[in-house]
Amino acid sequence: MPIAVRSFAKINVGLYIGERRPSGFHALRTVYQTIALHDLVSVTLGRGAGIEIHCADPRVPRDESNTCWRMAVRVMKALRARGRVVIRIDKRLPVQGGLGAASSNAVATLLAVERALKKRLHPEQRWELAAEIGSDLPLFLVGGTVLGAGRGEAVFPLPDLPPLPMVVATPTVAVSTPAAFEAWDRAQLTLAGAPSRMDRASRALFAWLAGSLSGVPAGKSGDRAETLLLDLVRAGIENDFEDVVFHEHPELREVKRVLERAGAKYASLSGSGSAVYGLFAARRPAQEAAARLTRQGIAAQATRTLTRAEYWANL
Ligand code: C5P
Repeated sequence: MPIAVRSFAKINVGLYIGERRPSGFHALRTVYQTIALHDLVSVTLGRGAGIEIHCADPRVPRDESNTCWRMAVRVMKALRARGRVVIRIDKRLPVQGGLGAASSNAVATLLAVERALKKRLHPEQRWELAAEIGSDLPLFLVGGTVLGAGRGEAVFPLPDLPPLPMVVATPTVAVSTPAAFEAWDRAQLTLAGAPSRMDRASRALFAWLAGSLSGVPAGKSGDRAETLLLDLVRAGIENDFEDVVFHEHPELREVKRVLERAGAKYASLSGSGSAVYGLFAARRPAQEAAARLTRQGIAAQATRTLTRAEYWANL
């Protein structure tokens, strides 16, 4: 029997890039937030050995370069299990979109293999397997609102933000994350003496999170959403990738502007893009904004953020 798992996407609410470390990775600070858009990953365990990947989207690799493949090999070994793992990916999220789809697919594979074998890894072992495959896999072992540090793999659950209506625009531009980091490094060479980004990140994230997560009195959820989004703008939360990615692809900056004009209280590139999202205080304007972008020829979907409890209940 195939075990099917929803593989939810994430957005980054603020992303600050620090120095490149000797490992080649950059220090990061970000707030990840899981959202309701998802792929479907299903796993069937059969006789024999090896991994098999099926996906209708030709851009998804079927070999060991696929994150699901790498995860399946590791999880079977860690659980000392034998058999052939057949993975089917029903792709609904963009490939290379900044929504963490490939990372989420791999974590969904881990959870599906565990369910198929009726065995579970220790949480620490799960995290190790995830972090080894990529910097933004571990967040999907937490879900909801998550603080990301280290190279993005050091994740800490934050109190959940209230569910927020949103629009995700997925322009047909593929942005390579390593190339975006390299462009960032080149740009930094011209910014000698700039204040430490991690200090700035910590201040901005503190200003936002301290207000939004602890200081807001319980009220109608619409009011809470509105206050939270205003705080986000006031604290100046930014995604550093916008500097380099918008320079390279000015049409993405325009998508952000369209979202803002359509009523988004806060709009941003997600990760290194190309997905651009807008957060709204209510559902109706989000739906209207998605319709407006679609009429302009930009693929867009109205959706909402997913709390930790919703994430685990709907996997
Ligand atoms: O960890 P992940 O596989 O997502 O990283 C892909 C590439 O992005 C890395 O090989 C590295 O070039 C770059 N990266 C980075 N700093 C990070 C995360 C990723 O430079 N914190």
